[in-house]
Amino acid sequence: MSKPKLAILSGAGISAESGIPTFRDANGLWEGHDVMEVASPQGWQSNPELVLEFYNQRRKAALSAVPNKGHEILAELEQWYDVTVITQNVDNLHEKAGSSKVLHLHGELFKSRSTVDDSLVYQISGWELNLGDHCEKGSQLRPNIVWFGEEVPMMDDAIRICRAAEIFIVVGTSLVVYPAAGLLDTIRPEVPKYIIDPNMPSISPMPNLFLINKVGSIGLTEVKERLTRPIK
Ligand code: OAD
Repeated sequence: MSKPKLAILSGAGISAESGIPTFRDANGLWEGHDVMEVASPQGWQSNPELVLEFYNQRRKAALSAVPNKGHEILAELEQWYDVTVITQNVDNLHEKAGSSKVLHLHGELFKSRSTVDDSLVYQISGWELNLGDHCEKGSQLRPNIVWFGEEVPMMDDAIRICRAAEIFIVVGTSLVVYPAAGLLDTIRPEVPKYIIDPNMPSISPMPNLFLINKVGSIGLTEVKERLTRPIK
């Protein structure tokens, strides 16, 4: 028998307990950086060195980060469910925890991409990507991150996964960045939707919505309990 389809939408909050700061909380990553300077095509055009350095620092921090209980629970749920994690995070903590199906909506910190051919994507070993690092066609490499104002290439896949979901969990996202935030509206009404966040984003009322005002590790422990309880 095939396992029920469980889709997860995760954001920066799930990695907070691994020591990676979120974007919009106090001391968030954007602090001290104008978003458009470090995460937009215009920023890249005007100061590529600053952009590379910004992501080098993120990569350095992510290299030593380890998955927390929240990431681990999502991986464990594969024993019972056909789990797909749609993450807005660019770290690789879901993979490190053992999740087998992870879709990175906003790109991946440990990959670089050619600036002349989007299909040329490379693994970054270590933490540095510098000016002068070139793709095989001789052009500068950029971080493989979806910046503000850029298309989200994985969005169609994400919508397809969400429409097919039989259970949906949202964890650690402020749901302010679109199109990712709109995925919640693609979930079918009869599907149970669990939202886990210690600082609950405002969400329009919808059927079968369960708001869990807790950090990822604790909220997910509770949801796992519910989802794996034997049926009497
Ligand atoms: P945000 O920083 O906007 O939101 C993080 C959310 O996590 C907030 O709602 C927090 O309350 C919550 N949170 C904090 N600690 C938590 C914990 N321990 N457990 C669970 N939740 C916790 O981050 P995102 O919603 O992921 O895009 O931001 C979305 C996108 O905005 C990012 O992917 C990034 C940024 O611009 C790009 O880089 C393209």
